[in-house]
Amino acid sequence: MKKIAVVGTGYVGLVTGVALSEIGHHVTCIDIDEAKVARMQKGESPIYEPGLDEMMTRNIEAGRLHFTTIHQEGFVGKDVAYIAVGTPELEDGTADLRFIESVAKDIAKNITSGITVVTKSTVPVGTNDYILGLVNDQLVNDVKVEIVSNPEFLREGSAIYDAFNGDRIVIGSDSEKAATLLEEINKPFGIHIYKTDVRSAEMIKYAANAFLATKITYINEISNLCERLGANIVDVAKGIGLDDRIGKHFLRPGIGYGGSCFPKDTSALVKIAKAVDYDFNLLQAVIHTNEKQQTSLVDKAEKRFGSLEGKRVALLGLAFKPNTDDMREAPSIAVSQRLIESGASVVGYDPIAIDNARRILPGAVEYASSVEEAVKGSDIVFILTEWDEVKALDLSLIKDHTTSKTLFDGRNCFDLDTVKEANIEYHSMGRVSVERVEILV
Ligand code: UGA
Repeated sequence: MKKIAVVGTGYVGLVTGVALSEIGHHVTCIDIDEAKVARMQKGESPIYEPGLDEMMTRNIEAGRLHFTTIHQEGFVGKDVAYIAVGTPELEDGTADLRFIESVAKDIAKNITSGITVVTKSTVPVGTNDYILGLVNDQLVNDVKVEIVSNPEFLREGSAIYDAFNGDRIVIGSDSEKAATLLEEINKPFGIHIYKTDVRSAEMIKYAANAFLATKITYINEISNLCERLGANIVDVAKGIGLDDRIGKHFLRPGIGYGGSCFPKDTSALVKIAKAVDYDFNLLQAVIHTNEKQQTSLVDKAEKRFGSLEGKRVALLGLAFKPNTDDMREAPSIAVSQRLIESGASVVGYDPIAIDNARRILPGAVEYASSVEEAVKGSDIVFILTEWDEVKALDLSLIKDHTTSKTLFDGRNCFDLDTVKEANIEYHSMGRVSVERVEILV
């Protein structure tokens, strides 16, 4: 078993460190945030991720998982140092490498024996070569440093599951020795290992996320056409997904992708292409189309009601997807901004993202403490995130407690027969709208 340092305890770093300790390695997670480190030492995860707290506690108790703010203590005597710090998007869409550069310098100053540096963070093609140069330039002791690109494919909300059940582990290195070491470390996960060179591994990460963002955007465009042509997107997606060349995953239409990865990585790849004089027109169109898609429910509601001035709109689900409290690039941001601009009042509900939402959504947004409280007294209801709790919405609440008796569902949570039976007006994604039947007595 190896001695491993993991720098950065965000989603990627913390899950990586905990998962590596679970398969038996001795892991020290390093972060500059003292309060966060103190919490993690007690087995409390700073992020919401199913299964993470339990796995952390188990490995801390087994003596395999440690947390520290001290870089020297973290790096000395380690076989491997994983870099998993953030690469936020700068104003111009490029990735900000400041945190990576600072870690590279810390490693160079503190190591007293050879080490393999593994980059988990998503970094532009060529960055690993640059990091290796930085470390070698600043080395204090005469030791050998190798570099490996090992991109992360975890999804928020199922990160622990993905760590043990992923489709592949990509190991990119120009050193056979370093690649073999990483292969050995990862073998206990029992996941297919794919070895390639450093630059190809870096590209695989961007190419995968950009492809998935494109796939979602494509199905959203087909969904918009289905609505206008009377076809049903659910059947269409199934029908095309049966073709193995297309595949059935990632064909759920909705109100656009969000989160900390797809929006950031698609913009970065456009910039990476520009830097080598290449116009990535397709990806630019994907980014633009997704922005429009995020507010498509507002377009539909405006078309239906003429004006939304003075209407009270309930938003069910605020996080960018279920099982996370992450609000980054969530469609609820653009939706609530547009609604407020058009004179509507907004009440939001989310099972766990409300604290984060308060910091990000416009100040005028009010919050409810349950689905029922959000719906009662509103004029119109929007579904933005397909939480189980939202999918369990009692449709009679829409019929009996909203003035318009109308539901706009951005995630196709209900089948059309159920909605017809509930006798509400229903507008969803890529399917014909359901009208309400006035029952005269
Ligand atoms: C994504 C990738 O799926 C991971 O493989 C990758 O590691 C990660 O980015 C990253 O780069 O760190 P994540 O952003 O956590 O993971 O979330 P996903 O579950 O992939 O969903 C992304 C967005 O696509 C969400 O807004 C979701 O609502 C949307 N989506 C997904 C759809 O609209 N339709 C679909 O069929 C699937």
